Amino acid sequence: MDWGMKNRLSRLMKPKDGNAVWLAVDHGYFLGPISKLEEPTKTIAPLIPYTDALMLTRGVLRNCVDASIDMPFILRVSGGNSIIGPALSNESIHTDMEEAIRLNAAAVAFSIYVGTEHENQTLTCLGKLVNEGQRYGMPVLAVTAVGKELEKRDSRFLGLCCRIAAELGAQVVKTYFCDNFEKVVRSCPVPLVIAGGPKLDTEMDALELAYKAMQAGAKGVDMGRNIWQSPKAVGMIKAIRAIVHDGASVEEAAKHIK
Ligand code: R5P
Repeated sequence: MDWGMKNRLSRLMKPKDGNAVWLAVDHGYFLGPISKLEEPTKTIAPLIPYTDALMLTRGVLRNCVDASIDMPFILRVSGGNSIIGPALSNESIHTDMEEAIRLNAAAVAFSIYVGTEHENQTLTCLGKLVNEGQRYGMPVLAVTAVGKELEKRDSRFLGLCCRIAAELGAQVVKTYFCDNFEKVVRSCPVPLVIAGGPKLDTEMDALELAYKAMQAGAKGVDMGRNIWQSPKAVGMIKAIRAIVHDGASVEEAAKHIK
């Protein structure tokens, strides 16, 4: 692996333990101004001290994040779809590699929609990004999207998606936690981080999700709604950090939520 690629990855996955707490705030690219992310600046600012990297679009980066920030970010470079459009899976690259480099991204992110009518389109785009990423030393985070069908989140389906993403060259894969998650981890030769998905009933449920994922071999989280839709968002991200970086149990981590 070339120096630039290695350096970018080490900014994202802290060398002391190789783990990562990334804050996902890219949802607006297809969901619009969802609850608690109507004003990204206000959502992001208090969480920054506890975040290893932000995941966001260029629009939110340019307009809602101060350029003096000393934090890496993962740039979502795909879109073209919306929650009310005819096909959520109809996503392609909208931000090119030159722009990612200009903005000083530490990685680019793209969603793949395996098993949908746009499977080939999204996998081909992933391959294109990986080719460009290799050329410029830019890691690619593949996101295994499930669209509106959340019930698709089982180990067979996610294992298939993660393996395909890794086979096509993604350096890191983001997926969902599921039963038998260790099987998904074992069959994916690159690091996996988990998304949180829609807000769970309680903070404890979200901590348990992160804890179980780490125990099963995840390298961290790229979490959004279960952090910033919580009324105790700062406590939540501190608790998630304790699980990911300090090996805390759910009960120990929960002490951060005040
Ligand atoms: C999809 O909406 C985005 O890629 C999010 O970054 C991803 O789903 C993680 O956010 P959350 O934890 O809210 O699911």
